Amino acid sequence: MKILVTGGAGFIASHITDALVNEGHQVVVLDDLSSGFEKNVNPKSKFVKGNICDKELVEKLFSEEKFDLVNHHAAQMDVRRSVKDPAFDANTNIIGTINLLQNAIKYKVKKFMFASTGGAVYGEQIYFPADENHPTQPRSPYGISKLAVEKYLYFYNAEYGLNYTILRYANIYGPRQNPFGEAGVVAIFTSKLLKDEQPIINGDGKQTRDYVYVGDVVKANLLTLEDNSNDIYNVGTGIETDVNSLFTKLNNILKTNKPEKHGPLAAGEQLRSVITSEKFHKKFGWKPSKRLEEGLKHTVEYFRNNLKT
Ligand SMILES: NC(=O)c1ccc[n+]([C@@H]2O[C@H](COP(=O)([O-])OP(=O)(O)OC[C@H]3O[C@@H](n4cnc5c(N)ncnc54)[C@H](O)[C@@H]3O)[C@@H](O)[C@H]2O)c1
Repeated sequence: MKILVTGGAGFIASHITDALVNEGHQVVVLDDLSSGFEKNVNPKSKFVKGNICDKELVEKLFSEEKFDLVNHHAAQMDVRRSVKDPAFDANTNIIGTINLLQNAIKYKVKKFMFASTGGAVYGEQIYFPADENHPTQPRSPYGISKLAVEKYLYFYNAEYGLNYTILRYANIYGPRQNPFGEAGVVAIFTSKLLKDEQPIINGDGKQTRDYVYVGDVVKANLLTLEDNSNDIYNVGTGIETDVNSLFTKLNNILKTNKPEKHGPLAAGEQLRSVITSEKFHKKFGWKPSKRLEEGLKHTVEYFRNNLKT
Protein backbone atom coordinates (compact mmCIF):
# COMPACT_ATOMS: atom_id res chain seq x y z
CA MET A 1 0.00 0.00 0.00
CA LYS A 2 0.99 3.62 -0.44
CA ILE A 3 0.66 5.17 3.00
CA LEU A 4 0.94 8.71 4.31
CA VAL A 5 2.17 8.76 7.91
CA THR A 6 1.79 12.18 9.47
CA GLY A 7 4.04 12.85 12.47
CA GLY A 8 6.42 10.11 11.30
CA ALA A 9 9.46 11.98 12.68
CA GLY A 10 7.92 11.79 16.14
CA PHE A 11 7.99 9.13 18.79
CA ILE A 12 5.10 6.76 18.00
CA ALA A 13 4.70 7.25 14.26
CA SER A 14 8.42 6.77 13.55
CA HIS A 15 8.08 3.25 15.00
CA ILE A 16 4.91 2.71 12.95
CA THR A 17 6.75 3.88 9.82
CA ASP A 18 9.57 1.41 10.50
CA ALA A 19 7.07 -1.45 10.81
CA LEU A 20 5.15 -0.44 7.66
CA VAL A 21 8.38 -0.19 5.65
CA ASN A 22 9.44 -3.60 6.97
CA GLU A 23 6.15 -5.05 5.81
CA GLY A 24 6.86 -3.77 2.30
CA HIS A 25 4.59 -0.72 2.20
CA GLN A 26 5.58 2.50 0.49
CA VAL A 27 5.54 5.22 3.12
CA VAL A 28 5.61 9.00 2.84
CA VAL A 29 6.22 10.85 6.09
CA LEU A 30 4.81 14.35 6.54
CA ASP A 31 6.18 16.15 9.59
CA ASP A 32 7.03 19.77 10.36
CA LEU A 33 9.68 18.72 12.94
CA SER A 34 8.04 20.90 15.59
CA SER A 35 8.56 18.16 18.17
CA GLY A 36 9.94 15.31 16.04
CA PHE A 37 13.43 14.75 14.68
CA GLU A 38 14.59 14.00 11.15
CA LYS A 39 16.93 11.29 12.51
CA ASN A 40 13.80 9.30 13.54
CA VAL A 41 12.50 9.13 9.97
CA ASN A 42 12.99 5.74 8.36
CA PRO A 43 15.54 6.16 5.51
CA LYS A 44 13.44 3.91 3.26
CA SER A 45 10.45 6.22 3.54
CA LYS A 46 10.09 9.49 1.66
CA PHE A 47 10.30 12.47 4.00
CA VAL A 48 8.37 15.67 3.34
CA LYS A 49 8.97 18.48 5.80
CA GLY A 50 5.77 20.45 6.15
CA ASN A 51 2.79 21.42 8.23
CA ILE A 52 -0.51 19.52 7.98
CA CYS A 53 -2.22 22.94 7.98
CA ASP A 54 -0.39 24.02 4.80
CA LYS A 55 -3.17 23.78 2.21
CA GLU A 56 -1.00 24.06 -0.89
CA LEU A 57 1.65 21.59 0.23
CA VAL A 58 -0.87 19.01 1.47
CA GLU A 59 -2.94 19.14 -1.72
CA LYS A 60 0.18 18.81 -3.88
CA LEU A 61 1.27 15.80 -1.84
CA PHE A 62 -2.09 14.02 -2.12
CA SER A 63 -2.44 14.75 -5.83
CA GLU A 64 1.05 13.47 -6.63
CA GLU A 65 1.24 10.44 -4.35
CA LYS A 66 -2.25 8.91 -4.62
CA PHE A 67 -2.31 7.40 -1.13
CA ASP A 68 -4.31 4.28 -0.27
CA LEU A 69 -4.25 5.04 3.41
CA VAL A 70 -3.51 7.90 5.80
CA ASN A 71 -2.15 7.11 9.26
CA HIS A 72 -2.54 10.38 11.15
CA HIS A 73 -0.32 10.94 14.15
CA ALA A 74 0.85 14.57 13.71
CA ALA A 75 -0.62 16.67 16.48
CA GLN A 76 -0.13 19.35 19.06
CA MET A 77 -0.13 16.96 22.00
CA ASP A 78 0.88 19.08 24.97
CA VAL A 79 -2.14 19.23 27.31
CA ARG A 80 -0.78 22.25 29.17
CA ARG A 81 -0.13 24.15 25.97
CA SER A 82 -3.68 23.38 24.87
CA VAL A 83 -4.96 24.98 28.08
CA LYS A 84 -2.79 28.07 27.58
CA ASP A 85 -3.41 28.36 23.84
CA PRO A 86 -6.59 26.50 22.82
CA ALA A 87 -6.67 28.21 19.42
CA PHE A 88 -3.25 26.84 18.51
CA ASP A 89 -4.34 23.38 19.61
CA ALA A 90 -7.57 23.55 17.60
CA ASN A 91 -5.77 24.92 14.56
CA THR A 92 -3.29 22.05 14.44
CA ASN A 93 -5.45 19.22 15.70
CA ILE A 94 -8.81 20.09 14.13
CA ILE A 95 -8.20 22.42 11.17
CA GLY A 96 -5.02 20.57 10.17
CA THR A 97 -6.88 17.26 10.27
CA ILE A 98 -9.76 18.65 8.21
CA ASN A 99 -7.19 19.71 5.63
CA LEU A 100 -6.01 16.09 5.42
CA LEU A 101 -9.57 14.76 5.33
CA GLN A 102 -10.68 17.07 2.53
CA ASN A 103 -7.77 15.89 0.42
CA ALA A 104 -8.39 12.27 1.39
CA ILE A 105 -11.86 12.59 -0.12
CA LYS A 106 -10.74 14.52 -3.17
CA TYR A 107 -7.93 12.09 -3.99
CA LYS A 108 -9.87 8.93 -3.14
CA VAL A 109 -7.94 7.64 -0.14
CA LYS A 110 -9.57 4.42 1.06
CA LYS A 111 -8.93 4.66 4.75
CA PHE A 112 -7.93 7.08 7.50
CA MET A 113 -6.36 5.91 10.78
CA PHE A 114 -6.38 8.29 13.70
CA ALA A 115 -4.37 8.40 16.93
CA SER A 116 -6.81 9.54 19.57
CA THR A 117 -6.39 9.42 23.31
CA GLY A 118 -7.92 7.13 25.89
CA GLY A 119 -6.92 9.58 28.61
CA ALA A 120 -8.01 13.04 27.58
CA VAL A 121 -11.24 12.19 25.71
CA TYR A 122 -12.77 10.48 28.76
CA GLY A 123 -11.71 13.19 31.23
CA GLU A 124 -11.99 12.36 34.93
CA GLN A 125 -13.34 8.84 34.84
CA ILE A 126 -16.57 7.72 36.45
CA TYR A 127 -15.61 4.05 36.42
CA PHE A 128 -12.33 2.17 36.08
CA PRO A 129 -11.06 0.99 33.70
CA ALA A 130 -12.92 3.00 31.04
CA ASP A 131 -14.28 1.14 28.04
CA GLU A 132 -15.16 2.82 24.74
CA ASN A 133 -18.69 3.58 25.98
CA HIS A 134 -17.47 5.58 28.94
CA PRO A 135 -18.83 9.17 28.78
CA THR A 136 -16.50 11.58 27.01
CA GLN A 137 -15.97 14.67 29.10
CA PRO A 138 -12.60 16.12 28.12
CA ARG A 139 -11.00 18.37 30.75
CA SER A 140 -8.64 20.03 28.28
CA PRO A 141 -8.78 21.61 24.84
CA TYR A 142 -6.45 18.80 23.70
CA GLY A 143 -9.08 16.21 24.68
CA ILE A 144 -11.76 18.28 22.98
CA SER A 145 -9.79 18.52 19.73
CA LYS A 146 -9.13 14.77 19.67
CA LEU A 147 -12.80 14.03 20.32
CA ALA A 148 -13.83 16.53 17.64
CA VAL A 149 -11.71 14.68 15.06
CA GLU A 150 -13.37 11.41 16.05
CA LYS A 151 -16.73 13.03 15.26
CA TYR A 152 -15.42 14.39 11.94
CA LEU A 153 -14.36 10.87 11.00
CA TYR A 154 -17.85 9.62 11.69
CA PHE A 155 -19.15 12.40 9.43
CA TYR A 156 -16.66 11.77 6.60
CA ASN A 157 -17.57 8.10 6.66
CA ALA A 158 -21.32 8.73 6.67
CA GLU A 159 -21.13 11.46 4.03
CA TYR A 160 -18.35 10.23 1.73
CA GLY A 161 -17.73 6.60 2.68
CA LEU A 162 -14.18 7.19 3.94
CA ASN A 163 -13.26 4.20 6.12
CA TYR A 164 -11.56 4.84 9.42
CA THR A 165 -10.12 3.26 12.53
CA ILE A 166 -9.75 5.29 15.71
CA LEU A 167 -7.27 4.02 18.29
CA ARG A 168 -7.62 5.63 21.69
CA TYR A 169 -4.17 5.21 23.21
CA ALA A 170 -3.35 5.09 26.89
CA ASN A 171 0.00 6.62 27.98
CA ILE A 172 2.62 5.39 25.58
CA TYR A 173 6.28 5.16 26.50
CA GLY A 174 9.41 3.73 24.92
CA PRO A 175 12.50 4.55 22.85
CA ARG A 176 12.50 7.88 20.94
CA GLN A 177 9.96 9.58 23.19
CA ASN A 178 10.95 13.23 23.43
CA PRO A 179 12.34 13.91 26.92
CA PHE A 180 12.48 17.68 26.45
CA GLY A 181 8.77 18.47 26.25
CA GLU A 182 6.14 18.65 28.96
CA ALA A 183 4.53 15.33 28.09
CA GLY A 184 6.00 11.84 28.40
CA VAL A 185 6.80 11.31 32.06
CA VAL A 186 8.87 8.14 31.48
CA ALA A 187 11.19 9.92 29.02
CA ILE A 188 11.43 13.03 31.19
CA PHE A 189 12.23 11.15 34.42
CA THR A 190 14.66 8.77 32.69
CA SER A 191 16.64 11.52 31.03
CA LYS A 192 16.80 13.56 34.25
CA LEU A 193 17.93 10.57 36.31
CA LEU A 194 20.56 9.66 33.73
CA LYS A 195 21.90 13.23 33.92
CA ASP A 196 21.88 13.08 37.72
CA GLU A 197 19.21 15.80 37.82
CA GLN A 198 16.22 15.83 40.17
CA PRO A 199 12.89 14.97 38.48
CA ILE A 200 9.88 16.89 39.80
CA ILE A 201 6.69 14.93 40.40
CA ASN A 202 3.59 17.04 39.69
CA GLY A 203 1.25 17.27 42.69
CA ASP A 204 1.24 14.45 45.23
CA GLY A 205 2.18 11.89 42.53
CA LYS A 206 -0.87 9.79 43.28
CA GLN A 207 -2.37 10.53 39.87
CA THR A 208 -2.48 7.31 37.88
CA ARG A 209 -1.93 6.41 34.24
CA ASP A 210 -2.10 3.30 32.11
CA TYR A 211 1.36 2.82 30.56
CA VAL A 212 1.57 0.91 27.29
CA TYR A 213 4.79 0.12 25.46
CA VAL A 214 5.24 1.68 22.01
CA GLY A 215 5.92 -1.71 20.36
CA ASP A 216 2.45 -2.87 21.39
CA VAL A 217 0.95 0.27 19.86
CA VAL A 218 2.76 -0.43 16.60
CA LYS A 219 1.17 -3.90 16.58
CA ALA A 220 -2.24 -2.33 17.13
CA ASN A 221 -1.70 -0.16 14.05
CA LEU A 222 -0.59 -3.09 11.90
CA LEU A 223 -3.56 -5.20 13.00
CA THR A 224 -6.06 -2.53 12.00
CA LEU A 225 -4.51 -1.56 8.68
CA GLU A 226 -7.10 -3.48 6.68
CA ASP A 227 -9.94 -3.08 9.19
CA ASN A 228 -13.02 -1.41 7.82
CA SER A 229 -15.23 -1.57 10.89
CA ASN A 230 -15.25 2.23 11.21
CA ASP A 231 -14.96 1.94 14.93
CA ILE A 232 -13.12 3.10 18.03
CA TYR A 233 -10.76 0.89 20.05
CA ASN A 234 -8.97 1.52 23.33
CA VAL A 235 -5.31 0.54 23.32
CA GLY A 236 -4.06 0.19 26.88
CA THR A 237 -3.14 -2.35 29.52
CA GLY A 238 -5.96 -1.95 32.07
CA ILE A 239 -3.27 -1.51 34.74
CA GLU A 240 -3.11 1.66 36.79
CA THR A 241 0.26 2.94 37.97
CA ASP A 242 0.75 6.12 39.97
CA VAL A 243 3.56 8.56 39.23
CA ASN A 244 5.31 7.91 42.56
CA SER A 245 5.55 4.17 41.78
CA LEU A 246 6.77 4.91 38.28
CA PHE A 247 9.46 7.15 39.75
CA THR A 248 10.46 4.38 42.20
CA LYS A 249 10.64 1.78 39.40
CA LEU A 250 12.93 4.02 37.31
CA ASN A 251 15.03 4.91 40.34
CA ASN A 252 15.48 1.18 41.00
CA ILE A 253 16.32 0.26 37.40
CA LEU A 254 18.84 3.09 37.20
CA LYS A 255 20.04 2.57 40.80
CA THR A 256 19.95 6.36 41.21
CA ASN A 257 18.46 6.59 44.68
CA LYS A 258 17.00 10.10 44.14
CA PRO A 259 14.41 11.29 46.67
CA GLU A 260 10.84 12.10 45.61
CA LYS A 261 10.43 15.84 45.00
CA HIS A 262 7.00 17.29 44.35
CA GLY A 263 5.81 20.42 42.50
CA PRO A 264 2.39 21.88 41.68
CA LEU A 265 -0.20 19.84 39.78
CA ALA A 266 -0.34 21.04 36.18
CA ALA A 267 -3.42 22.63 34.60
CA GLY A 268 -5.67 20.15 32.83
CA GLU A 269 -3.94 17.15 34.44
CA GLN A 270 -6.27 14.27 35.24
CA LEU A 271 -6.18 12.35 38.49
CA ARG A 272 -6.92 8.76 37.48
CA SER A 273 -6.77 7.28 34.01
CA VAL A 274 -6.94 3.62 33.01
CA ILE A 275 -8.65 1.95 30.06
CA THR A 276 -9.69 -1.55 29.08
CA SER A 277 -8.85 -2.97 25.64
CA GLU A 278 -11.28 -5.86 25.94
CA LYS A 279 -13.12 -4.83 22.76
CA PHE A 280 -9.88 -4.60 20.80
CA HIS A 281 -8.70 -7.93 22.19
CA LYS A 282 -11.96 -9.68 21.26
CA LYS A 283 -11.94 -8.37 17.70
CA PHE A 284 -8.24 -8.52 16.84
CA GLY A 285 -6.66 -10.72 19.51
CA TRP A 286 -4.46 -7.80 20.59
CA LYS A 287 -2.94 -7.86 24.06
CA PRO A 288 -0.08 -5.82 25.46
CA SER A 289 2.99 -8.04 25.38
CA LYS A 290 5.39 -6.01 27.54
CA ARG A 291 5.06 -5.69 31.27
CA LEU A 292 5.88 -2.24 32.59
CA GLU A 293 9.19 -3.21 34.27
CA GLU A 294 10.41 -4.88 31.08
CA GLY A 295 9.35 -1.95 28.87
CA LEU A 296 11.00 0.51 31.25
CA LYS A 297 14.26 -1.43 31.10
CA HIS A 298 14.25 -1.25 27.28
CA THR A 299 13.48 2.43 27.41
CA VAL A 300 16.23 3.16 29.95
CA GLU A 301 18.69 1.22 27.77
CA TYR A 302 17.72 3.31 24.75
CA PHE A 303 18.18 6.60 26.60
CA ARG A 304 21.47 5.45 28.08
CA ASN A 305 22.80 4.92 24.55
CA ASN A 306 21.17 7.89 22.86
CA LEU A 307 20.92 10.76 25.28
CA LYS A 308 23.28 13.62 24.57
CA THR A 309 23.86 15.72 27.64
N1 LIG B 1 2.46 9.64 23.59
C1 LIG B 1 1.29 9.29 24.11
O1 LIG B 1 1.23 8.80 25.24
C2 LIG B 1 0.01 9.48 23.34
C3 LIG B 1 -1.20 9.08 23.93
C4 LIG B 1 -2.38 9.24 23.22
C5 LIG B 1 -2.36 9.76 21.93
N2 LIG B 1 -1.17 10.15 21.38
C6 LIG B 1 -1.19 10.71 20.04
O2 LIG B 1 -0.23 10.06 19.23
C7 LIG B 1 0.30 10.98 18.27
C8 LIG B 1 1.81 10.96 18.28
O3 LIG B 1 2.28 11.30 19.57
P1 LIG B 1 3.82 11.18 19.98
O4 LIG B 1 3.86 10.85 21.43
O5 LIG B 1 4.55 10.35 19.02
O6 LIG B 1 4.28 12.71 19.88
P2 LIG B 1 5.47 13.39 19.06
O7 LIG B 1 5.45 14.84 19.47
O8 LIG B 1 6.73 12.66 19.23
O9 LIG B 1 4.97 13.22 17.57
C9 LIG B 1 4.14 14.13 16.92
C10 LIG B 1 4.81 14.47 15.60
O10 LIG B 1 3.94 15.34 14.87
C11 LIG B 1 4.72 16.39 14.33
N3 LIG B 1 3.82 17.54 14.17
C12 LIG B 1 3.25 18.28 15.14
N4 LIG B 1 2.48 19.25 14.61
C13 LIG B 1 2.57 19.10 13.26
C14 LIG B 1 1.99 19.77 12.16
N5 LIG B 1 1.20 20.83 12.36
N6 LIG B 1 2.30 19.37 10.92
C15 LIG B 1 3.13 18.31 10.71
N7 LIG B 1 3.69 17.63 11.71
C16 LIG B 1 3.42 18.02 12.97
C17 LIG B 1 5.84 16.63 15.31
O11 LIG B 1 6.97 17.26 14.75
C18 LIG B 1 6.13 15.22 15.79
O12 LIG B 1 7.13 14.61 14.99
C19 LIG B 1 -0.33 12.34 18.58
O13 LIG B 1 -1.42 12.54 17.74
C20 LIG B 1 -0.79 12.18 20.02
O14 LIG B 1 -1.90 13.02 20.29
C21 LIG B 1 0.01 10.03 22.06
